[in-house]
Amino acid sequence: MIPCNGFKTQVLFFDVRISETGMNQHLLFNFLIIGWFGLSVISFLILLVIPVPYGRHIRHGWGVTVKNQIGWLVMEAPSPIIFFFSFILGQNSKTVTTIAFLVMWEMHYVHRAFIYPFRLRGKEKRMPVTIMILGFMFNIINSFFIGHYLFSISDGYPNRWLMDPRFIFGFGLFLVGFVINCQADYILCNLRRPGESNYKIPFGGLFRWISCPNYLGEIIEWVGWGVATWSLPSLTFAVWTAANLVPRSRFHHFWYHQHFPGYPLERKALIPGLW
Ligand SMILES: NC(=O)c1ccc[n+]([C@@H]2O[C@H](COP(=O)([O-])OP(=O)(O)OC[C@H]3O[C@@H](n4cnc5c(N)ncnc54)[C@H](OP(=O)(O)O)[C@@H]3O)[C@@H](O)[C@H]2O)c1
Repeated sequence: MIPCNGFKTQVLFFDVRISETGMNQHLLFNFLIIGWFGLSVISFLILLVIPVPYGRHIRHGWGVTVKNQIGWLVMEAPSPIIFFFSFILGQNSKTVTTIAFLVMWEMHYVHRAFIYPFRLRGKEKRMPVTIMILGFMFNIINSFFIGHYLFSISDGYPNRWLMDPRFIFGFGLFLVGFVINCQADYILCNLRRPGESNYKIPFGGLFRWISCPNYLGEIIEWVGWGVATWSLPSLTFAVWTAANLVPRSRFHHFWYHQHFPGYPLERKALIPGLW
């Protein structure tokens, strides 16, 4: 039998005893990410049959609710904050590339957490506290995994990474996705006049071809991020995003057809001309 006294190290928020003979922190981190990836696949299968109960799919039986604006703010706030501290406290050297990652992430999440919630319209719209807590926990884990990997665990991102085709292509995708996502979200938010809570058929931008361009933009954005950072935690986030939003776009699309008999027939759910 191999003697295994082990040593203690910090992985995530836990003290973990790692065998001297076996796993190192990097390997353990990869195991956690693979588990996280597996969870996204399970989540996708569940979400294919159960729409997350917020927005138009809110249902009774999910307990106490909270105002939509507060729900979004609380759910999303951990992402910009944890990522920022992962950058500041990161053990890898700070380069123009890591600053570029920080700017990209914060561009999305400062908007999502601190600006978007206050653009939402809909008198008395609420979401279940359970959903808020699940989203809050998801964002803590996700931003920690990605930030900790990029700024501490990876081999580092020297400035020449900015000239790498993966960064250039991924960055371009990220920007395209960001613009599509914001444009679509603002078309949706402006459909209602202040005080209104009803739903209308959206037009303009990619709504000409699909029901959920905001979701398409979000997926493109995080695929771009995954390519630009070329890392497993980021790729896993892109998969999580698709696992959340592909099934939800299907439910949204059916919902439009059920509620608007005149809904444009040529419009697809998520991918123009295809699906
Ligand atoms: N990365 C991820 O995994 C992830 C997961 C979820 C969401 N997100 C992002 O978060 C953002 C919001 O997501 P969401 O699921 O709330 O999007 P959504 O269902 O499209 O709703 C966005 C906003 O527009 C309103 N709205 C939507 N369709 C409308 C219509 N036909 N008429 C009037 N108002 C309408 C909604 O009101 P109601 O609330 O009253 O329906 C809500 O305030 C999106 O950009 C999405 O990509 C990301």
